[in-house]
Amino acid sequence: MILSVKNLSVNYGAIRAISNISLEVNSGETVALIGANGAGKTTILRTISGLLRGTAGEIHFDGMDISQMKPHKIVSAGLSHVPERRGIFANLTVLENLQMGGFTQKLNATDFDEVYSIFPRLLERRKQLAGTLSGGEQQMLAISRALLSRPKLMLLDEPSLGLAPQINKSIFDTIQKINKKGTTVLLVEQNAFAALKISHRAYVLETGNIVLTDKSEALLKNESVKKAYLG
Ligand SMILES: Nc1ncnc2c1ncn2[C@@H]1O[C@H](COP(=O)(O)OP(=O)(O)OP(=O)(O)O)[C@@H](O)[C@H]1O
Ligand SMILES: [Mg+2]
Repeated sequence: MILSVKNLSVNYGAIRAISNISLEVNSGETVALIGANGAGKTTILRTISGLLRGTAGEIHFDGMDISQMKPHKIVSAGLSHVPERRGIFANLTVLENLQMGGFTQKLNATDFDEVYSIFPRLLERRKQLAGTLSGGEQQMLAISRALLSRPKLMLLDEPSLGLAPQINKSIFDTIQKINKKGTTVLLVEQNAFAALKISHRAYVLETGNIVLTDKSEALLKNESVKKAYLG
């Protein structure tokens, strides 16, 4: 097991956003976390990566208790987070954004070549300001930047948000490819169908509680999931 979250609660002031949830990710898996707007998906990812602190619970990553670790140390430990709305630097070039991804390691040309082989578009556009990229290209850049920290586990928050369906497909294909090459993935999505299609297991989150977990294949056929999330 690479990630274990146990009995985690997270509050914003007096408001409880996450109530006593537990989840696990095994090495090599893609695990999806699905749920409606405001269910608490982003809150969970931000707490795992140290950007928020839980009020109770434990978070273990790769054998370490990371619940009090600083975010940059968590990245160095091998956990990288592609945030909702991508968090790229609009006024830096594509290349400069990529260089930020490697801040925890010494990067060489091969590292960049590997990213460019996954996303050839970024090589063509490496001198362009990131803010001028299309939405899909910005998502590719955000994923590439995370890859350059050589993560063992990648957290992805709504990679398909705001993208056209045909671009979605290529983003989800890429996530699957990255997983097959050895990176473990925890994927948060409102696009439940696509997330369940490419994941091994999934958790269903409703207003801060995990209400269901199973193999993704089974959840795709689950009547209540179909009704609530698969339209
Ligand atoms: N900084 C904050 N201060 C107060 N409440 C917050 C804050 N951030 C989030 N919340 C609340 O916590 C709950 C969970 O929010 P969160 O962003 O984790 O949901 P989400 O599942 O990621 O939703 P979405 O699908 O819309 O991204 C929501 O009710 C939200 O209003
Ligand atoms: Mg969110």
